[in-house]
Amino acid sequence: MTLAHGRPYLAIPGPSVMPDRVLAAMHRPAPNIYEGALVEMVHGLVPDLKAAARTAGEVAIYIANGHGAWEAAASNTIRPGEKVLVLSTGRFAAGWGVVFERLGAETQVIDFGKRAAVDLGAVEAALAADSAHKIKAVIVVHVDTATSVKNDIPGIRAVLDKLGHPALYMVDCIASLAVDRFEMDAWGVDVMVAASQKGLMTPPGLGFVFFNEKAAARQVETASFYWDWTPRANPALFYQFFGGTAPTHHLFGLREALDMIAEEGGIEAVWARHEKLARAAWAAFDAWGQGGPLEMNIADPGLRSCAVTALRIGGEDGTRLRRWVDEKAGLTLGIGLGMAEPDDPAWHGFFRLGHMGHINGHMMMGALGVIEAGLAALDIPHGPGALAAAARVIAEA
Ligand SMILES: Cc1ncc(COP(=O)(O)O)c(C=O)c1O
Repeated sequence: MTLAHGRPYLAIPGPSVMPDRVLAAMHRPAPNIYEGALVEMVHGLVPDLKAAARTAGEVAIYIANGHGAWEAAASNTIRPGEKVLVLSTGRFAAGWGVVFERLGAETQVIDFGKRAAVDLGAVEAALAADSAHKIKAVIVVHVDTATSVKNDIPGIRAVLDKLGHPALYMVDCIASLAVDRFEMDAWGVDVMVAASQKGLMTPPGLGFVFFNEKAAARQVETASFYWDWTPRANPALFYQFFGGTAPTHHLFGLREALDMIAEEGGIEAVWARHEKLARAAWAAFDAWGQGGPLEMNIADPGLRSCAVTALRIGGEDGTRLRRWVDEKAGLTLGIGLGMAEPDDPAWHGFFRLGHMGHINGHMMMGALGVIEAGLAALDIPHGPGALAAAARVIAEA
């Protein structure tokens, strides 16, 4: 018997749940790309995207996933042979570093492992050793979606400022934009990359690169025609927004998603909802972990993202639990990413709960309830009181 028939719930850390309103906004005939509703609507996206990123700088929109946004940012900022400092806390900064390498940059990688945030002392030592300022950019992810660690973005800026190091400061907010508090201008970030499919609740296919005056001034002559961010940020003609035909239906979906953020009360309200729901999940994980092997990958709540929680459970129980909740109850959890290689039996001992975007209290309680059922059905030892603990967090005003 299965109880999976009903509305499925995709709780992987992106793509996130797509709101019906976003899907409905996309369900329309192809619009004219030369005049009319689409052309009028797109200009209004720009201030709303900047508000979500907390910047008065520029934004360039690409028909791309996060990897495309990575390449766009790299293509505009770094010449072949220049050096980039990569602060790696899991999977994604290292992946972005490879994009820079393929464009000819030299990378210096500091790896902080799979269970820790960037250590500011190590960053200071690396930058202090670079007295000739050969490092032209420092790259980091705000939230690493594999480990679920959240890095101290203003802290890294403070290190750059303390040393007077002129490198561009470039941050990946692909998992965290419109989920975890992020203040591009106040935190001194020069370039920020994001994508549509997580906090912005729109299907994968739009990449965003935000950049400030310092980054614009440094723009390199090697930026390719397609990735060049200047015409996209300041288009003389409509087609230049997208370097060609507009991603028509994605743009209508994004408009709806940004309207939903505004209706909720703006980005602060969205951050607060995510924080509350993440805390409910953590309360449950803490309780289950008291009587069994379940453990959050990041021990310090202050270093955990509100977008996703990476979990360790050991043996084959990560895969068993994922399969059970999917097949029996219609809940799809995320695989463990980057903790072990897929051909290593240890790979099955990890999973992730995505809690970004269009989720609310009953979805979180439902997901947690189904996980509890799975733990019981599979005889995986776990402590009591998890659902009550989660409900208490939600009950607190
Ligand atoms: C933090 C982060 N950076 C980059 C990416 C890559 O984005 P994409 O898969 O859309 O290319 C992801 C995808 O999950 C991510 O979570």
